[in-house]
Amino acid sequence: MASNRFAVVLDGLTKRFNGKIAVDHNSYEIEEGVIFGLLGPNGAGKTTTIRLLSGVLEPSEGDAEVYGYRLSNDVNIIRSIVGVLPENRALYDRLTAQENLEFYGRLYGVEPPELNERIESLLSFLDLQDVRNTFVGKFSMGMRQKVALARALIHQPKLLLLDEPTSNLDPVMSAKFKEYIKELSRDLKTTILISSHHLAEVENLCSKIAVINNGRVISVGDINELKRRIWGYREFEIRLLELKPDFKKIVESISGVSDVRYTGNKIFYRCVDADKVNPSLIKALVQANAEIISLNEVERTLEDLYMKLIRGE
Ligand SMILES: Nc1ncnc2c1ncn2[C@@H]1O[C@H](COP(=O)(O)OP(=O)(O)O)[C@@H](O)[C@H]1O
Ligand SMILES: [Mg+2]
Repeated sequence: MASNRFAVVLDGLTKRFNGKIAVDHNSYEIEEGVIFGLLGPNGAGKTTTIRLLSGVLEPSEGDAEVYGYRLSNDVNIIRSIVGVLPENRALYDRLTAQENLEFYGRLYGVEPPELNERIESLLSFLDLQDVRNTFVGKFSMGMRQKVALARALIHQPKLLLLDEPTSNLDPVMSAKFKEYIKELSRDLKTTILISSHHLAEVENLCSKIAVINNGRVISVGDINELKRRIWGYREFEIRLLELKPDFKKIVESISGVSDVRYTGNKIFYRCVDADKVNPSLIKALVQANAEIISLNEVERTLEDLYMKLIRGE
């Protein structure tokens, strides 16, 4: 029954609240072991998707598969293999940090001595040892978030769903968190879905993304492939010691080069087939005695891609 390629398969997954659609027939797959980014503006349906996949909400229509188990048939098994950092960071305020972890660990069937070891390592990683006996109700948002993250990891889930995981963390904790996520993915092959507004962070962590808006999937796939598909061309920058008028003529005469611009001693141009265009362009410039300092690709950021996808809709 278990499919070994996809950790998650959404199959027309749909959620309506009082007739209003929040997740609208979403279908996409998440490969095992990847860090997957779920992006979209406020109200796009990210939190609802996470709640559906963690078995907290029931779909109105459609279904999803998690490690081969269907929400419609095996929601209890799915709950046991999924760890979730929910939007509200749900914890028991009247239990201490340590008691929360003990409680949730036992709920997931993790027993001492393994439970104690996991709690120690999570408290230590998250710098929570000093406040382990403090009631969670007294914690700041950032601290709650750390305990909630530890809670999500206590049973070593195969699928980790993180709803805006770094939104209340300071930059140091946030950087540490990112390293930890990469480690989980590398060492334990945990599949991780992250919803986030930090596009630079998603670009750093995730190889694949789904962009959703008004509940619908606008785009899904590998970040670099999406960039190529959306723009259809690549842009390069050549820096010269000196930009002579002759060189401009040369660049503009190369077939496949378009949208040439000049700034100072730099030439910017676009092309589709860089493997053909760049070698002939360089060769022609060198033959004309141009002194080339550098050739670089003008990289598109995930933010550029996101803006284009959301605004272009
Ligand atoms: N429990 C709920 N009851 C009614 N409407 C809801 C509920 N949860 C979410 N919604 C609505 O569903 C849409 C998607 O919300 P949400 O999934 O929280 O978006 P996001 O996390 O992307 O900001 C929004 O219009 C929101 O108001
Ligand atoms: Mg949300």
